[in-house]
Amino acid sequence: MELRLSACVLLVLCMTWRVNGGKILVWYTDGSHWINMKPVLNTLIDRGHQVTVLVPSSSLFMNSSEPSRFHYEPFNITVSVEDLDKQNDDYFEFAMYEMHDMSYLQFYIRVIELMKNEMKISLQVMDGVLKSETIKKKLKEGNYDLLLSDPIYLGSDLVADILGIPLVFSLRFSLVPAPPSFVPGAMSKLTDKMDFSERIWSVLFYTVQDVVVDYVMWKEMDKYYSEVKGEWLRKNTLFVWITLSLMTKELLWMNCSDFIFNHTG
Ligand SMILES: *[C@@H]1O[C@H](CO)[C@@H](O)[C@H](O)[C@H]1NC(C)=O
Ligand SMILES: *[C@@H]1O[C@H](CO)[C@@H](O)[C@H](O)[C@H]1NC(C)=O
Ligand SMILES: *[C@@H]1O[C@H](CO)[C@@H](O)[C@H](O)[C@H]1NC(C)=O
Repeated sequence: MELRLSACVLLVLCMTWRVNGGKILVWYTDGSHWINMKPVLNTLIDRGHQVTVLVPSSSLFMNSSEPSRFHYEPFNITVSVEDLDKQNDDYFEFAMYEMHDMSYLQFYIRVIELMKNEMKISLQVMDGVLKSETIKKKLKEGNYDLLLSDPIYLGSDLVADILGIPLVFSLRFSLVPAPPSFVPGAMSKLTDKMDFSERIWSVLFYTVQDVVVDYVMWKEMDKYYSEVKGEWLRKNTLFVWITLSLMTKELLWMNCSDFIFNHTG
């Protein structure tokens, strides 16, 4: 009897130990970011967590019919795979062939065009979750413990805020300290060997980039966030404020150096 009781206690203990995992919701990603996210998700499953991934109806790399260890939560978007393909092709065409023969003015005009289109696509994908009562209801009923996201894909902070759950970012990226006078900005056409005037230009290039991002993205995002969150945000039109207030609440950055998986092959 006593033996059976302790076996029972042991079993209960084992069970509570086993169900110690959480319910993790994962924001959509695509391209190489999705390839890098998958091993992280598999590791989470190995450690006893339940993982559910939000997948848009059109995606270049995600495929909810593919056999996998995590669950998928599909949502409908108005963007087609062709739109995504075209945006990618336009970008690569620009970065590999067009930009080298362009003046800086032509360069920025094209960059702004590409960014605006990218932004339009991102907002349309966000609509698929944030403007669908069906999906929002499903996610609320899912009782997730946290939202895991690659911050390159916009909107996760808003979703975490609406669901009232913590947000965890996972990003594989080289974030080395980069003093603008020493490390030339991506696509600035400068190299690691710069003379003094080139170094000044490099600093300017970063500054102009900030202004362009501010002009193309933050205003647009601010409008969207205000619309989704309601009137009270409209008074605080600074996107920085919104980002900080939404993101610092439960902000946790995961150091992904522990998950070094090489996908170059
Ligand atoms: C998605 O995965 C399924 C099952 O592996 C496969 O049959 C289908 O062709 C894939 N779809 C795309 C668009 O790759
Ligand atoms: C997505 O669209 C399909 C077909 O129109 C529909 O059957 C499905 O219920 C939609 N899914 C969601 C989550 O709204
Ligand atoms: C991230 O992890 C790597 C390896 O574990 C370590 O070398 C690095 O210092 C960590 N970075 C931060 C910011 O903690």
